[in-house]
Amino acid sequence: MLDTFAQDVIKGLTAENKFLSSKYFYDDNGSRIFQEIMNMPDYYLTDAEFEILSLQSGKIIDALKFSGPFNIVELGAGDGFKTFKLLEYLVTKEIDFYYVPIDISQEAIDVLNKNLKNRLPSLKIKPKVGDYFEILKDNRKSKYPSLLLFLGSNIGNYPDQKSNELLNLLNKNMKSGDKLLIGFDLKKNPITIHNAYFDKYGITKRFNLNLLLRMNKELGADFKIDDFDFYCHYNPLTGDVKSYIISLRKQIVNIEALKIKVDFEYNELIWTELSRKFAIKDINDMAIQSNFKLNHNFLDCKHYFTDSLWEK
Ligand code: AVI
Repeated sequence: MLDTFAQDVIKGLTAENKFLSSKYFYDDNGSRIFQEIMNMPDYYLTDAEFEILSLQSGKIIDALKFSGPFNIVELGAGDGFKTFKLLEYLVTKEIDFYYVPIDISQEAIDVLNKNLKNRLPSLKIKPKVGDYFEILKDNRKSKYPSLLLFLGSNIGNYPDQKSNELLNLLNKNMKSGDKLLIGFDLKKNPITIHNAYFDKYGITKRFNLNLLLRMNKELGADFKIDDFDFYCHYNPLTGDVKSYIISLRKQIVNIEALKIKVDFEYNELIWTELSRKFAIKDINDMAIQSNFKLNHNFLDCKHYFTDSLWEK
């Protein structure tokens, strides 16, 4: 029985227009490369959201209107660099809460857990590794209200219909009165967006090509990494950044575990990622479509990014 990665590789690489989902970027190596991306000055998303959580944590917590203990459940916590500011605020104010970071990378969760134990020893933390939705089912059983965090504009990696499904699924796993703080990267000067994704250091290129390394490692494929390159493009009219791997020559790749050979034409593409950018109006529409009420948009000073607070 093939796992979902294997099935998706067959589906994506045998399609007329080849594609692979960016969700497969995040093995332990990919998660490390993503940390490098977040540290690049051109990847403004991290700084913008860090500013919001550094300067507006008090306002965010006040807007929750939780009267007793509560949970903060973070989907895709990564290294928790931005969330630290929110957690630090709560710990300093001696507010009673549990922090439940969820990530698919065991390594990312181990690093986060260790860091937080050092930096905020009194924090009550219950880290979890695995699929968001499996773990979220437990949220409905909790007797305490929850604030769900879905930061970093992760929602932008899902096409319109999929993001709607995902938000509806989040809604179903929340209790009435629970809140969702969700990050959206906003439309802005296209050059700023282009530079964040087509970086001059080649880090985003490595992030994409890691998909090929992953297929070599996990599926016995024989991709020669130097025979592939990376391209991405921002369309300011649709708000979509689309990323691709390019085959630099006509070639055949053997994927041992799947018993398939994949033909690549010269300059043929594999579409790897969608990173959507939003207008404030889009965000309100998305909240309504998924049965939430938009409570407040917390923006950074340049208005590059918003953490939007929604209520069930
Ligand atoms: C995780 N996600 C929101 C990132 C983004 O901006 O779409 C992933 C990423 N891809 C290239 N750079 C960063």
